[in-house]
Amino acid sequence: EWTIENFIDMEVEKIRNKVGDRKVLCALSGGVDSSVVAALIHKAIGDQLTCIFVDHGLLRKDEGNDVTKIFSEDFNMNIIMVDAKDRFLSKLKGVDDPEKKRKIIGNEFIYVFDDEADKLKDIDFLAQGTLYTDIIESGTETAHTIKSHHNVGGLPENMQFELIEPLNTLFKDEVRELGSQLGLPDRVVWRQPFPGPGLAIRVLGEVTEEKLEIVRESDAILREEIAAAGLDRDIWQYFTVLPDIRSVGVMGDARTYDYTIGIRAVTSIDGMTSDWARIPWEILEKISTRMVNDVEHINRVVYDVTSKPPATIEWE
Ligand code: XMP
Repeated sequence: EWTIENFIDMEVEKIRNKVGDRKVLCALSGGVDSSVVAALIHKAIGDQLTCIFVDHGLLRKDEGNDVTKIFSEDFNMNIIMVDAKDRFLSKLKGVDDPEKKRKIIGNEFIYVFDDEADKLKDIDFLAQGTLYTDIIESGTETAHTIKSHHNVGGLPENMQFELIEPLNTLFKDEVRELGSQLGLPDRVVWRQPFPGPGLAIRVLGEVTEEKLEIVRESDAILREEIAAAGLDRDIWQYFTVLPDIRSVGVMGDARTYDYTIGIRAVTSIDGMTSDWARIPWEILEKISTRMVNDVEHINRVVYDVTSKPPATIEWE
């Protein structure tokens, strides 16, 4: 009989047999798939697993700390946290084209990962969170192009590792169940999709520290309020974007000329198509008030009411 418990027992056994007393490396992003892979392999071989988490400076508020807390403190895993903010930001300086930004971030990720992996001795295996759907999708032409834009976090092709992909027979809902069974918290198991290039594609145009901060802070408010309203499982993805426009406002007696922030919240099954989420007005009102009051340089909040198609979920 196929149950998650049996699956865990069987995979743990398989991983132990395959790895023996050798070592495994895993690129941990904090997303569902890589988190579940890390937890499963850790259950099988404990300290023989090392994870690398690259902080590219484009993460959401508290994301890096949260990953450290869960995996390094609660799970006691070997984790290497790489602070690569400066590396990424300096590469992104002056770049405003979305596809160029993606490419730069994808490449830089590989360089950083490579540098760290090089410092580790005698690693034989690389663990990846490939799902069943990733394999069947990559068989078709459309899926191929979709994949290439998901490629951030892809790994160097010339790496001399043997792959371990214990999730490659599972669907997403099974992966979540597995994660819960392995003791991962709901905020990981039910985490909304977050793109590899992170906040860089939510600051439209050139990425600067100041703009990242505005997106990061407003996004944190949005996530807090969506969770408080109990909507976090109904809405597929919800985040803020910073278009490169400023507009006139008034604060007290003074005229302001500051940024507009956009809220994007969509319902979807698989991200291929989506509809804008009908968030109740009162909740939007609360979110808007908080953003304007608490985040410096925001004087206007707009809500994106476009479906996909014709718009995409992200703005870049
Ligand atoms: P779009 O904006 O194309 O997004 O409607 C569909 C889904 O894909 C995510 N997305 C990305 N994920 N790297 C990723 O890993 C990317 O470059 C990227 N671009 C979009 C997006 O967040 C949504 O879930």
